[in-house]
Amino acid sequence: MDKFVINGPCKAFGTIRVSGSKNASLAILAATLLFDEPVELRNIPHVRDTTVFFDLLRSLNKKIIISKDKKKIKIYNSKKKISTFCSYALVKQLRASILALGGLISKHGKAVISAPGGCAIGTRPINYHLNALKRLGMKFKLKGGYIHATAKNGLKENNKINLNLSVGASENLIIASTLGDSTVNLHRVAIEPEVKELVMFLNSAGANIKWIGKRTLRIIGVKKLNRTSYTVNGDRIELSTWAVLATMTAGKLKIDGFNNIKLLKTELDLLRKIGASIKYKKNQIIIQGKKKLKNINISTKEYPGFPTDLACIFGVLLCKANGRSTIKENIFENRFNWIAEVRRLGGKIQIKGNKAIIEGNTKFQGAEELMSSDLRGSVALCLAAISSSGRSVVNRIYMLDRGMENFEKKARSIGVSIKRIS
Ligand code: EPU
Repeated sequence: MDKFVINGPCKAFGTIRVSGSKNASLAILAATLLFDEPVELRNIPHVRDTTVFFDLLRSLNKKIIISKDKKKIKIYNSKKKISTFCSYALVKQLRASILALGGLISKHGKAVISAPGGCAIGTRPINYHLNALKRLGMKFKLKGGYIHATAKNGLKENNKINLNLSVGASENLIIASTLGDSTVNLHRVAIEPEVKELVMFLNSAGANIKWIGKRTLRIIGVKKLNRTSYTVNGDRIELSTWAVLATMTAGKLKIDGFNNIKLLKTELDLLRKIGASIKYKKNQIIIQGKKKLKNINISTKEYPGFPTDLACIFGVLLCKANGRSTIKENIFENRFNWIAEVRRLGGKIQIKGNKAIIEGNTKFQGAEELMSSDLRGSVALCLAAISSSGRSVVNRIYMLDRGMENFEKKARSIGVSIKRIS
């Protein structure tokens, strides 16, 4: 199993480019199940989660051609008949595989897909997905750990589907409602930028999807989707990760690759409050850290609130602030697994219910055999190790590889001493 050896403390200086958004890519890849025509996608990050999704699409008999420089992928229907079976072996590697359900049931009227189960950050049920698809006319049974779903006469009209602000359920229902001859109104739709990108992608291929309220979508079914070429925006969580690294190491980074900085208002305003200086030059963000950082209280919330994916990243930053900070986790029930390992680097953090109480002014000291808990937790551990004195070893970095493209290469280019050991 790969690990990172990090020799700190390092200061982050230079220019860095974020990769395409992992979560937008996963939703868009799922939506390609609706197409007969080829789809060209640019800026998909080549991380473990997208690679598993490529495997899932291949297992359904889609053909994927990746350009030599990996910047472009093309997805075709292969000559074989499309399969509607998503195996446990693939779904267990990637919960987002459940996003294939909406596309398969809408396009082929049936799907057999392994139930995804829980994961390190929570039980992560899929009841919102299933209940909403049921209201569109999908029938399903759970047999032997698989969801057997059918919609013999296609999916039908419904004006009142509530998606409870769930990102995945919103994406699944948008995909399921795009084709056909009915109109569907979706309510309490998640408005995370990744959901909005899925809508933009589908509309680029001739779908008829409109935001008719802040969190309401009207989808008028279309007969088919056209050939399209789409470029995925940068990854907002990756961007904030590098911004936090610049802040916590009192460094300076110029960050490229994200084309709508307004979408990051909540997290960048908080970083400013903590003490970073942030400037914009077109779509480049220039961020500079200071020696003295201010403590702050944060609560995670659905977009446009503070993202749960950044709680641990800001958590390690706040270990270095002057005074006590708190982070309240409101989205997932089990997102504090990173804390035990950060304590091994010297972090003074207590957990009370869904709140992490972080005492500031920590001088991290490197530690051996740190264990990554999940993707974002693994990244947080690396950031803490980068700002620690001495050598650290971060294990189980396959977690980080799920969602961060070329992490160590990018980190080295801005002055971090980091080596992967396979
Ligand atoms: N929920 C239910 N029932 C459902 C669906 C969700 O109870 O059917 C609950 C969840 O258990 C959770 C809350 O609703 O408590 C929100 O979950 P949501 O469905 O919004 O999350 P998701 O679609 O499973 C996506 C991202 C996560 C990100 C969350 C929240 C992808 C592939 N994953 O998950 O990203 O944390 O939205 O923004 O888009 C990551 O990238 O590391 C990651 C975990």
